[in-house]
Amino acid sequence: MSIISKDISKAIAILNSEELVAIPTETVYGLAGNVFSEKAIKRIFETKKRPFFNPLIVHIPSIEALPNIVSYVPDKAKLLADAFWPGPLTLVLPKQSTIPDVITAGKDTVAVRIPNHPVTLELLNQLDFPLAAPSANPFGSISPTTAQHVESYFKDDIKMVLDGGSCLRGIESTIIGFEGDQPIIFRLGSTSIESIESIVGPIQIKNKKDIAPNAPGMLDRHYAPSTQTILVENISKAIEKHSNKRIGVLAFQYPEKHDAITFQIVLSETKDLQEAASKLYDALHQLDKQDLDVIITERLPDFGLGKSINDRLQRATVQL
Ligand code: TXA
Ligand code: MG
Repeated sequence: MSIISKDISKAIAILNSEELVAIPTETVYGLAGNVFSEKAIKRIFETKKRPFFNPLIVHIPSIEALPNIVSYVPDKAKLLADAFWPGPLTLVLPKQSTIPDVITAGKDTVAVRIPNHPVTLELLNQLDFPLAAPSANPFGSISPTTAQHVESYFKDDIKMVLDGGSCLRGIESTIIGFEGDQPIIFRLGSTSIESIESIVGPIQIKNKKDIAPNAPGMLDRHYAPSTQTILVENISKAIEKHSNKRIGVLAFQYPEKHDAITFQIVLSETKDLQEAASKLYDALHQLDKQDLDVIITERLPDFGLGKSINDRLQRATVQL
């Protein structure tokens, strides 16, 4: 029997009994549990096979709940929250002492956001506690953007996926931390750097070399299909090189025409970066199911959401 359901009261009952529910957000589906239940949080790590050094994001229903989670909000964090919440932006701030160490991996900071999805906002509003939720995929693999993706990963491990349709934004939230009162990007994501800079001025990106394992979403290999996946400048040249194999192609705007292609997905015929972001993970899931020898993909324009998509493609294509 399917574990996918639209029943919010059932989700509430499961969460109240310290078990897990996968929830829809505008970015990707999350694997959610009660922030204050040690049992639920342990289950999240076990279910995902996620290392305990990798902290979780706390999801709250409204900005009024923020002082329960964090002890200090720099002015620029306030500006960003006002500009982007509810939405795909996560702030890393000093934690309140009530936030358990298992959530933050022992750090004195906590990651928090208000997701922008009507179903999950309603759920959060009806619960007495916030939800800790990492992306609902096994550690390292492709994040889920539909209830069906989650079901195929975890149907034997969790009781319910709360169905909220396809995620409209399609890649994870942008994560911003602070050095003193100065914001720094820890993870590129669905809120573009340009839109963040329009609120707080020029901002630095600290990549994995500087902050790992603070944000293992920045680890080299992550978001990865199990099929060998390569990122190239010129798809047709790469096809020639691999023409004896079963080839899948993930193209940005123009389909490749070549007899050697077994399966192909185009992300946006109109060159729309938001459309490409929203389709990216589903495309990788589909390609990964085709029994291919290799998936060939190309870099997108390196601005706006293109930068975030390129970051994910890079990590999907790092060879072990
Ligand atoms: O869009 C999203 O952010 C989704 C949805 C479900 O909200 N969640 C998500 O969670 O992507 P997850 O666990 O896959 O990624 C959370 C990232 C991790 O890379 C983690 O290391 C980082 O947030 N993080 C959490 N707490 C942190 C902290 N205190 N300092 C630095 N990084 C932190
Ligand atoms: Mg993740």
